[in-house]
Amino acid sequence: MYNETVMDHFEHPRNLGEMEDATVVVDVGSPECGDRTKLYLKIEDNVIVDVSFRTLGCAAAIASSSMATEMIKGKTLEEAWNLTNTEVAEALGGLPEQKIHCSVLAEGAIREAINTYRKSQGLEPWQ
Ligand code: FES
Repeated sequence: MYNETVMDHFEHPRNLGEMEDATVVVDVGSPECGDRTKLYLKIEDNVIVDVSFRTLGCAAAIASSSMATEMIKGKTLEEAWNLTNTEVAEALGGLPEQKIHCSVLAEGAIREAINTYRKSQGLEPWQ
């Protein structure tokens, strides 16, 4: 069902775990299946200097979170905001059609974290 890249990120997730000194932490659920991702971002000067996650979900959700965290590490908040679930799925070499929503969970968690951070700074959330 899954390709080698997906299996690799599922079996050896990058950036897995909690972060003591995170700037922002969010816990986001998938409306489709109820699976959840907790995302930790450390932000300095508008850049995501560190990121980690915990996902209670399927293999595709874990692999997507792992890949997405790799893709936003070292990026500006604008760049991270613009990362789409399609790009995450493509970086994984593709996901089965019925598993696309699992990559949406990762994208949603990143956007939720960025807007939680913006609100904490007195800034308007992005749409
Ligand atoms: Fe729920 Fe994949 S089935 S995130």
